[in-house]
Amino acid sequence: MADWHIIGRGSIGLLWASELCRLNHDVSLIIKNHQGPPIGQLTDLTNTHGVQSQFKVTLGGYDSPAPIHTLLVPLKAYDILPAIEQIKPRLTPQTVIILCHNGMGTVEQVQQLLGVEQPLLFATTTHGAYRLNATHVRHTGLGETKIGRFGPPLKRKLTQTLNKVLDQILTPLSWHEDINAVLWQKLAINCVINPLTATLNVKNGQLADVQHEPTINSLCSEIATIANACGIPFVADELRNNCYKVIKGTANNYSSMHQDVKAGRTTEIDYINGYLLGKARQLCLEAPANEALYQAVKALESTSS
Ligand code: PAF
Repeated sequence: MADWHIIGRGSIGLLWASELCRLNHDVSLIIKNHQGPPIGQLTDLTNTHGVQSQFKVTLGGYDSPAPIHTLLVPLKAYDILPAIEQIKPRLTPQTVIILCHNGMGTVEQVQQLLGVEQPLLFATTTHGAYRLNATHVRHTGLGETKIGRFGPPLKRKLTQTLNKVLDQILTPLSWHEDINAVLWQKLAINCVINPLTATLNVKNGQLADVQHEPTINSLCSEIATIANACGIPFVADELRNNCYKVIKGTANNYSSMHQDVKAGRTTEIDYINGYLLGKARQLCLEAPANEALYQAVKALESTSS
C-alpha cells in the first residue's frame, strides 16, 4: 500500500515521486480520468548531471478505496480546492496534506473545507523541473525547499517520521515556524515578476531594463504597505533588491505566468496579485499599480481562452 500519494503528474510532483522512490517509499499518483484498478508505471528521471534512471510509481484514480496517509498536492493554486473536494472521502483526520504551489489563498480554502485541525503543511521549492512527457521528468536546476505548518502541531512521532523523509528530498530543506512570512516573500516576488513578464512578453532578465524601474518601485512600495498592514514586516527597498536579485538570477527564464499565457492556460493571477488586492480591499488600502497589472493579465487570459 502506498505510504505517499501525490495528486497529478506535473513536473514538481514527478520530481518528489522520484526522490521518494529513491528512498524506497511506495508512491501512488492520483490521476484524473484514471479508469479501473491501480497500475504500476515506470517513469524516467534525468538528473541535473544528465544521468537517466527509472523509478516505479502506481497510478490510480480519485475513487480508489485505499485511505491516504500523506498527500502531496503540487497543483496550480486554482486546482487545489476542486482536487481536495474530490479526494475528501479518502482523507482521515490524521492525513497530512502538503500544498506546494505559487501564490496564496488556498490554505484558507482547504481549512474551510476540512477544518483547521487537519494536519496541513506548505512547501515552497526553488528546484527546477521540466516534464518531457507524462513518464519522464528532468531535474533542471538545484534549489532549496522551505516547509512549515498551518494546521495544528503534528504528533511527535509523525514529525520524526516526516522529518526523516523530507530531510532527504529536494535538499537543502528547512522547516520554518512562520511559513506564512516565507510565503509572503515569495508572493511579493511573484507579484512583480510574473505579471510584468507576462504582459510585456519578455524573459525575467529583461525586467532589469531601466525603463521598468518606476513600475517595479511602485509595485514594491504597494506590496510592502499591504504586507505591513497584514502584520508581515516588509521593507520596500529590501523587497526591490530581492526582486532584482531574482530577476538577475533567473534572467534566462520565462516566468510560469508568461508560460501559462503563451500556452493559453489560466494563470495563477487570482492567487498572486489577486490575493494581495483582496487583502488591500479588506484593509481599505489602494494598490493601483498591482490593480492595473491584475486587469492586464485578466485581459490577456480572456483573449487567449
Ligand atoms: O513563477 C515563477 O516563474 C518563479 O516563481 C519566479 C521566481 C518568478 C522565477 O521565474
